[in-house]
Amino acid sequence: MRAILYTGKGGVGKTTLAAATALGAAGAGQRTLVISTDIAHSLADALGQPLDNEPRQVGGERLLACELDTGEELERYWGAIKRRIAAALQERGVQAPVAGELAVLPGLDEILALVRIKRYLESDEYDVLVIDSAPTGAAMRLLGAPDLQRWYTQNLLGLGKGLSRMLLPALRNVVNLPITEAAIQSQLQALFDQVGALRALLTDAEVTSVRLVLNPDHMSLQETQRAHTYMSLFGLSVDAVLVNRVLPAAVTDPYFGQWKADQSRYLGLIRQTFEPLPVIEVPLRRQEVVGVPALRELAAELFGETNPASRLSDVQTLRFFVEGERQLLALRVSGVPAGEVGLEKQGSLLRVRLGQLRRSIVLPDYLAGLQPAWARLADGELQVAFEEPERTNR
Ligand SMILES: Nc1ncnc2c1ncn2[C@@H]1O[C@H](COP(=O)(O)OP(=O)(O)OP(=O)(O)O)[C@@H](O)[C@H]1O
Ligand SMILES: [Mg+2]
Repeated sequence: MRAILYTGKGGVGKTTLAAATALGAAGAGQRTLVISTDIAHSLADALGQPLDNEPRQVGGERLLACELDTGEELERYWGAIKRRIAAALQERGVQAPVAGELAVLPGLDEILALVRIKRYLESDEYDVLVIDSAPTGAAMRLLGAPDLQRWYTQNLLGLGKGLSRMLLPALRNVVNLPITEAAIQSQLQALFDQVGALRALLTDAEVTSVRLVLNPDHMSLQETQRAHTYMSLFGLSVDAVLVNRVLPAAVTDPYFGQWKADQSRYLGLIRQTFEPLPVIEVPLRRQEVVGVPALRELAAELFGETNPASRLSDVQTLRFFVEGERQLLALRVSGVPAGEVGLEKQGSLLRVRLGQLRRSIVLPDYLAGLQPAWARLADGELQVAFEEPERTNR
């Protein structure tokens, strides 16, 4: 079983590439399901056929596709809790539709989508699962949190964020109410159990690979670095970076001269940033990539004979760990770069220099407040240790 998660900023081409990958895998003889978890679904548009909540066959392909609607999971895992919170809010004068909205936690939708994905991962029906729009923010944090129950409780208590002060005390009472109840606790526990089991599948690099999609421009690089950092932090492995909308060599019109120069600069920067991950260039096509034939053609161009669902790289590029009291990060480096190490931190960005090697890493929040202290080469990694800022200045 393989799961491929496509993630990236809005509009970079995730749906297109997920659909192409799925068609490629199906073409290679694998029973494939492509799932969109985005609320603003566009998978049906990309494939050029209607889709719904349950997997449906795509054309005459070995491929099934669905656009998730997590209503069923919402009812099963959250229905009772939601009604309790909503009712209590209404008693305090919050209007019904607003109360209904407030009773659903931010990120819950994504988590419920993950629960469904787990079901497909564990079923024997598919060899490959391609997921359009990987879980972000809240769901990733939840997956990474060692204590799910506490995370959730805290988020329940944070429910009132952004609401008027007047409402806040009332909300505190409300949220204290349902989570102490045994029935609801056990319902919550069922959800946590699902997420915990899913975490094991998502963090198994043999099963799950994340692909980062971006465009060769200023806007997407840092955001993609951040995604790489968080995926690594939560133990998911990224196996490739796909740079979409690269102007092909055939475009020689001077009008695009600056675009081409900039793209080539960003491509260099992207390769350097994510080295040693494979960077796949996806050319800008003559028109939108819509419909099965166009997507299949794109898959063939990108992956050739390689099964697009196979692991495209098996290196762990970025790793976070603790040694004694110290927080460290480790970057995979190829060969043994010689020279002095330069470490420079700018906001949440860490720049590392070692001989010819230049890297920049977006630091996760828990490291962003610390200072890099020293670095060492060990086991093919450049390991950087952090410390409290006061100590650095002494
Ligand atoms: N390489 C390409 N050449 C030409 N058109 C492309 C290419 N990649 C994507 N497109 C087109 O760009 C549009 C946006 O792509 P897509 O929907 O895949 O992006 P997305 O990242 O999924 O967006 P969203 O964040 O909104 O879900 C689509 O019309 C798609 O056909
Ligand atoms: Mg999309």
